[in-house]
Amino acid sequence: MQLLDGKVLSLQIKQELAAEVAEIKSNNGKIPHLVAILVGTAGRSETYVASKMKSCEEVGMHSTLIRFDDSVSEEELIHAVRDVNENPDMDGLIVQLPLPAHISADKVMETIDPKKDVDGFHPINIGRMAKGLPAYISATPQGILEILKRYNIETAGKHCVVVGRSQIVGLPMSILMQRNTYPGNCTVTMTHSRTQNLAEICRSADILIAALGRPEFITGDMVKEGAVVIDVGLERVPDASKKSGFALKGDVKFDEVAPKTSYITPVPGGVGLMTICSLMQNTLKAARGEVYY
Ligand code: GUN
Repeated sequence: MQLLDGKVLSLQIKQELAAEVAEIKSNNGKIPHLVAILVGTAGRSETYVASKMKSCEEVGMHSTLIRFDDSVSEEELIHAVRDVNENPDMDGLIVQLPLPAHISADKVMETIDPKKDVDGFHPINIGRMAKGLPAYISATPQGILEILKRYNIETAGKHCVVVGRSQIVGLPMSILMQRNTYPGNCTVTMTHSRTQNLAEICRSADILIAALGRPEFITGDMVKEGAVVIDVGLERVPDASKKSGFALKGDVKFDEVAPKTSYITPVPGGVGLMTICSLMQNTLKAARGEVYY
């Protein structure tokens, strides 16, 4: 078993990004600029966004955080998105999800200029991704592709099972893994909460991508010997033995599953760290105008 080490890869990618940002700066004085819109203070969104902003500054990019109270109206939010769309100094825009219930996330996402949609959530980017055209690919799936690529994991002809059909991870992942490219060319099975014989299907996976958001759901008996396992989960589970009172757990029961695998991502230190790198890679592409429409 070999660990797919997100810590090592993310440090490598950050160094590459810093060098590329320095190059653009010296060529034309342009500094890639990511804007995040954050609504309210609930959940872990604030921590995630702070970490995105900090990582941008670390590699020499500009970052701007625009905050709104939970009470912000859909119109006000859409107005703010339009302002960013029209600002030529701002290259990439993310609106952190979830949004309060009175705001349609779909409507907000569709207002973002697809050329600035570095989260890859706009239907145009999802459609272009599905067709294999140049597009922004959402951060977590792109981070997973980067892990597979950088560890030279063979994917062609393999059976890839995706567990979970979220718009942010499961759905794009299932599309990406069947595309005629590398990483890709897999035979993909997309599974979800209504799937029958889930354990049996998982056991037939050469590449298992667990993205259902249920701590330690994937157990040893659900994994084939030699499989590649990618764990997208990250949940806080009460743990009295920890000073913080909780432990971070993935969707995979690591101690049981890891010994059976050829490669596995740890939690923490796996997919999560790659996500922010992908967002910065997309912001760099946006600043360079590399994704065309
Ligand atoms: N909420 C959870 N993950 C994400 C993400 O990748 N992007 C945004 N905008 N919101 C999220």
